[in-house]
Amino acid sequence: MAEATGEQQQTERGADVVTLEKVVALCKRRGFIFQSSEIYGGLGSTYDYGHYGVLLKNNVKAEWWRAVIQERDDMVALDAAILMHPKTWEASGHLEGFTDPLVQCLGECRKRWREDHLRSEQLGAEGAEGEIRCPECGGELSEPMNFNLMFETHMGPTRESGSEVYLRPETAQGIFVNFKNVLQFARKKPPFGIAQIGKAFRNEITPGNFIFRTREFEQMEIEFFVPPEEAPKWHEQWMEDRMRWYTDLGIRPDHLQLREHGADELSHYSSATSDIEYRFPMGFSELEGIANRGDFDLKQHAKFSGEKLEYVDSSDGSRYVPHVIEPSAGADRATLAFMVDAYDEEEVEGRERVLLRLHPRLAPVKVAVLPLVNKDGQPEKAREIYEDLRKRMPAEYDAGGSIGKRYRRQDEIGTPWGVTVDHQTMEDDTVTLRDRDSLDQSRIAVGELGEELERRLAAPWSSPQPR
Ligand code: GAP
Repeated sequence: MAEATGEQQQTERGADVVTLEKVVALCKRRGFIFQSSEIYGGLGSTYDYGHYGVLLKNNVKAEWWRAVIQERDDMVALDAAILMHPKTWEASGHLEGFTDPLVQCLGECRKRWREDHLRSEQLGAEGAEGEIRCPECGGELSEPMNFNLMFETHMGPTRESGSEVYLRPETAQGIFVNFKNVLQFARKKPPFGIAQIGKAFRNEITPGNFIFRTREFEQMEIEFFVPPEEAPKWHEQWMEDRMRWYTDLGIRPDHLQLREHGADELSHYSSATSDIEYRFPMGFSELEGIANRGDFDLKQHAKFSGEKLEYVDSSDGSRYVPHVIEPSAGADRATLAFMVDAYDEEEVEGRERVLLRLHPRLAPVKVAVLPLVNKDGQPEKAREIYEDLRKRMPAEYDAGGSIGKRYRRQDEIGTPWGVTVDHQTMEDDTVTLRDRDSLDQSRIAVGELGEELERRLAAPWSSPQPR
């Protein structure tokens, strides 16, 4: 029997209902993410995170910190400045080589495009020969020119030559320039890694697809320093570890794939890179890159700074420049992937329900406490239960509107559990505990609620399938 294609498998399992438009609409409706500077008509491809968006992205970052620092012995944390000495970017190769090929439409629309993207869209491969045209108006395109993606600004009160500084286009360089500091103070020897989360900026030619590609974004980067001969082994290990991080947090394994870069795609510093790709609504696209950077960065910074950036073994005096494996993820892109993967719609008792089946550890709010009616002592009792639960986990109290509407609101922000206080609560001190995914409702004593929810939060979780 012929193997089923991805599309067929999807249909057999229940088709995915998610589109980017639906996620964008939910983000706006429920206060996750807004267009930046909206009252002025918005600023292209920049976004602001609202209350639930902040909580969700913070949880994504917290889970990353947990996995790379708390659960390991071979990593330390760093938070380097966004502005760095301009020589950094000479040494790293970004001043010269961090460019994208830009073409401009010579026809009606005059729009600018990335030549390599158009080539693969129109001819099937980045390096393919043949004519490409403007996708907007069909016009002829200019010759490609190299466009540097770094945002430049000036340090100090005057804009004189020599005062240029750059908004970092990757957080990685902050790690490399601190290699010596960390080696001295963290008492580590290779293999060990430095982890950092922070903002990065790129003047992308064609940003888009909501928070997938923006000009200001957050990276979660690891530079893992290893003895040179161990680099291939650690490259493999990090690919495995990072894939598992996404699936442990609920991403469906068949929505992820590893793709090895071809020789023509490799960055100037990389000898091998594999991308973890996620099946976004616009197709499989990069979620995280895992590169073998060799000794490129440490050697370049040693050359430009005059400092020795190497590991010296105190037992025998031998020295070497470690090689670097770099798992580099986007916090915003990961947040989008978790939302897309969690998005679901279903019909319950004749009504459509939209929900985010987020992993409970990622959910912005873990439990909502709702009085069934706004009288008979129920709001006061619910408030009391809420005050107790919020000490243990992020909780919300909501007494406004019909119970159905309140459940729908919590479903859409991905709250995994709902606690309803009703007339029976007032008699026997029990509440209804509702599960977001299965819609199971069970009765539980108020005194057992906190511990039960903590137990569920710590338990392994997998996305309910099929859906
Ligand atoms: N230090 C290596 C590096 O920066 P990259 O593949 O250019 O590698 C790593 O970026 C990750 O950062 C990407 O996999 C993606 O998740 C995120 N990222 C890169 N550019 C982005 C953009 N314009 N908007 C949002 N996220 C981006």
